[in-house]
Amino acid sequence: MSDQERRIATKTRSLRKYEGDPQAFVPVEGAPAIDLLSPFGPTIARTSVPQALTDDLNRFADTMQRPGEFLVPPDILTAGGKASLQHLIETAVSRYAEIHEGKKPARVHVDVAWIVCQPAETSSPAHFHSCDVSGVLYLGLPPGIDDEAQTARTYISGRKAGYINFIHGDRQRFSRSLVSFRPSIGVLYVFPGWLLHVAEPFLGPGERRSLSFNAIVGE
Ligand SMILES: [Fe+2]
Repeated sequence: MSDQERRIATKTRSLRKYEGDPQAFVPVEGAPAIDLLSPFGPTIARTSVPQALTDDLNRFADTMQRPGEFLVPPDILTAGGKASLQHLIETAVSRYAEIHEGKKPARVHVDVAWIVCQPAETSSPAHFHSCDVSGVLYLGLPPGIDDEAQTARTYISGRKAGYINFIHGDRQRFSRSLVSFRPSIGVLYVFPGWLLHVAEPFLGPGERRSLSFNAIVGE
């Protein structure tokens, strides 16, 4: 193999992680049969964490001044060793990266984690994180999040009170650019740090409580 051929082969391999999956089918019901392919765009992983962990984090958050944001100290993050939140997050991020890039990342490290306690009528404006992979874990919801008055409070298509919304790209015909999830306690979303997201405000008593993290993923 010549040097030029080797360079081309290496380049092809390094670009493979950016290729869409030609098997990325979205099932479509109905006749006649049609396959809908959705090979492009960022992906979001969803998993869950044991209740013991969310209980521990909530006990810690209850001791802090609220509302507000505060860092989760390393001893809380690493408590429990292999059952710790840090280990669980790093495992989820490693799997997420491996699915995309075809190999286990050389290193995954949770750089920082913080808890956000939001009262009614406060939002988390559209933002991204300065890291490779980020995520959010829900720890508490306002009791009225599913009230009719809340679910009817739609700010724009699909964006409801208290929900998290991810935004990618512009409004383009035949391309989706916004997805909205109802938070659920114990559910962890993992996504690229550059992906814009926003939390809408809610009304009524209680607080919306979540943990965010920034992770570094070595290639
Ligand atoms: Fe965020």
